[in-house]
Amino acid sequence: MQTPNGESVKLTQANLERIAVALGTALHTPYAPPHVYPMSAPAFTSNPQIERQREPGPHGLYIHVPFCNYSCSFCFYARRIGDGLPEMERYVRGLRRELEWAEPGTPLTQLYVGGGTPTALPAELLDAVLGDVFTRMKPEGKLIHTVECSPESVSDGHLKSFARHGVGRVSMGIQSLNQEVLDIVNRDHGSGQALEACDRLVASGLMVNVDLIYGLPGQSEAVFRSDFETLAARGIHSITAYNLRINERTAVVQDMAPTDQLDLARLVRWRAFVQQTAAAAGFVQKTWHRFERNTPEAARYEDKTGAGNQLGIGQSARSRFGSTIYCNHASVAVYLERVENGRSAVEETFHLGEEDRRIRFVGHSLGVGKPIVREAYRQTFGHAFDDDFSEPLERMKRADLVEDAGDAVHLTPTGRLFYDLVTLAFYPQRIKDWLEERHAIAMRKGQSRATNPGTVVPGLS
Ligand SMILES: C[S@@+](CC[C@H](N)C(=O)[O-])C[C@H]1O[C@@H](n2cnc3c(N)ncnc32)[C@H](O)[C@@H]1O
Ligand code: SF4
Repeated sequence: MQTPNGESVKLTQANLERIAVALGTALHTPYAPPHVYPMSAPAFTSNPQIERQREPGPHGLYIHVPFCNYSCSFCFYARRIGDGLPEMERYVRGLRRELEWAEPGTPLTQLYVGGGTPTALPAELLDAVLGDVFTRMKPEGKLIHTVECSPESVSDGHLKSFARHGVGRVSMGIQSLNQEVLDIVNRDHGSGQALEACDRLVASGLMVNVDLIYGLPGQSEAVFRSDFETLAARGIHSITAYNLRINERTAVVQDMAPTDQLDLARLVRWRAFVQQTAAAAGFVQKTWHRFERNTPEAARYEDKTGAGNQLGIGQSARSRFGSTIYCNHASVAVYLERVENGRSAVEETFHLGEEDRRIRFVGHSLGVGKPIVREAYRQTFGHAFDDDFSEPLERMKRADLVEDAGDAVHLTPTGRLFYDLVTLAFYPQRIKDWLEERHAIAMRKGQSRATNPGTVVPGLS
């Protein structure tokens, strides 16, 4: 098998077994994108209504909008279906109230509005939130702000609002253009509507990212390639291609035949296929899952959401100030009750210890496809990378997933197929155990759903 750079990746059964042993539990489908560790750390401590400790200087802002027009069976995000205008208006009032926590004039590095589906909000409501953000905070630097959207919800009113406030990028979920696949996963838009939305977004001058998923039930490589090529021809700037990830919230497991499950051999095959498809369409791989059109225009986008301090507002949103991560309450009802009464919406916190910061360093290098530079590590932590990670490093080297260039540790062509899993393999045992537990729960739920087809994704309250 050849990677897009012409490097050959030998995927014999023996090699696959070696890789499987080296990756160990990391192989079990990641619960959350590993490069965001420790934002998804398991060891949160209950700390209801604790106030976030401000840190001076600029920070990023994440806003969570949970509303969606349908419930995709693969989705594990905090989202709500079926709310009407009064609920949306109340939620938006809550967001605006919570935003008052930011000191007026705070420098804003990068805004990311995610969900759910932010454009499920009527344009005027989303506009009111954006208006408050840019009145209260002062954008600095050149980072591009993003709002997530879906094909059936994004309107011309939304686009005008984005232009007015300086939002430069949209990220639209499409997942597949194949009607059978869309039906199986319960998406309520067709391919025509998705392509029409792409055209409108590109014509509006915004940078456009589209999300696709591979490994969905009923999806073949030919279908994926045709989707990628069709989308590339519409002039979008990047495609984020996720392999299907499953956990206890993803109802899709009940529709999956054993041959749909992404074991190592199928995952490798898909990853190599996605890389080749992207390269053939003129896209370069930026992270394990993000492929950018090879143009200066597309290269303008830099994702800095994982770096520096960040305020997160809305249901379940996470903030990070200094060494502390704060997580808002997962229930919209409790979230609103708190912010409406002027109290902190935070429910849990996590303090980043030295070990967590070291893992974060690995995630911010190998996890995004960059080398680990030994001198940078030593300057950050005061001792050698090998003092902390010699065991996983040797294991990854034996499996030909990383190579040691002396001053730095790089991913090999095979390792580049698994940016995310190689990073996971460096995690401490307690986090691997947590991932393993999540995976086991998901699999048990999948089995019980398979024998009880009436069960659906539990609603979020
Ligand atoms: C919050 S949604 C984006 C916007 C919008 N809600 C939509 O779906 O059109 C973020 C993206 O996460 C991805 N995603 C959600 N659940 C996933 C899963 N179980 N495995 C892989 N990707 C998933 C989808 O590609 C989705 O577009
Ligand atoms: S994938 Fe997007 S539209 Fe589908 S349920 Fe999740 S957040 Fe909503």
